Amino acid sequence: MTDLMWSSEIYESIQDAKTVSAEPQTDARELRNTLGNFATGVTVLTYQSGDSFYGVTVNSFTSVSMDPPLVLVSLTRKSRALTYLLERPFAINVLGDAQLQTALQFAGKPQDGYPIEWITNDGAPRISGSLAHFQCTPWAGYDGGDHILVLGRVLSFGQQDATKPLVFYRGRWSALATDEDEG
Ligand SMILES: Cc1cc2nc3c(=O)[nH]c(=O)nc-3n(C[C@H](O)[C@H](O)[C@H](O)COP(=O)(O)O)c2cc1C
Repeated sequence: MTDLMWSSEIYESIQDAKTVSAEPQTDARELRNTLGNFATGVTVLTYQSGDSFYGVTVNSFTSVSMDPPLVLVSLTRKSRALTYLLERPFAINVLGDAQLQTALQFAGKPQDGYPIEWITNDGAPRISGSLAHFQCTPWAGYDGGDHILVLGRVLSFGQQDATKPLVFYRGRWSALATDEDEG
């Protein structure tokens, strides 16, 4: 045993560690708060139903596979979007730091009079001004407890350089500090 392993700092962090309770709901808020330490970008999944365009704000987006090209989002079973996303093309829009209102709009907080500019000529409707986008077709859906893991196969994609990402961290909106900021 080295001194380092028994430093008070490490001992205290072990003391702080939580075991997930056998009662699933007991520590749910604390678990959610602790998971919130993982800073993420923010995306909006967009799709068409009838003549209307819809979106849902999602930060569970992750890349999965290069061959075939697959990405994943985790959607609550309560999501209205779920039934659509398992059966039709959808776009994943990675939001830039000027798109906070877009994130709110599609997270169930309508922004009165805030215009969403749609691009409709390359697959599912997608949101103009986004940092990056991925046009997807559903690949698979898997059981994820109270969520469904939706895998999409990427059909096309694009990005723009002059934008920084919108960031979500500890339940708050944030922006990315880069080494360019230090001048
Ligand atoms: C930053 C942020 C991230 C979110 N990420 C997810 C997510 O990964 N999965 C999910 O199901 N809902 C997520 N939500 C919640 C949905 O955006 C919200 O419940 C939305 O109203 C669902 O719309 P729908 O019922 O039309 O699908 C997130 C909300 C916010 C603000």
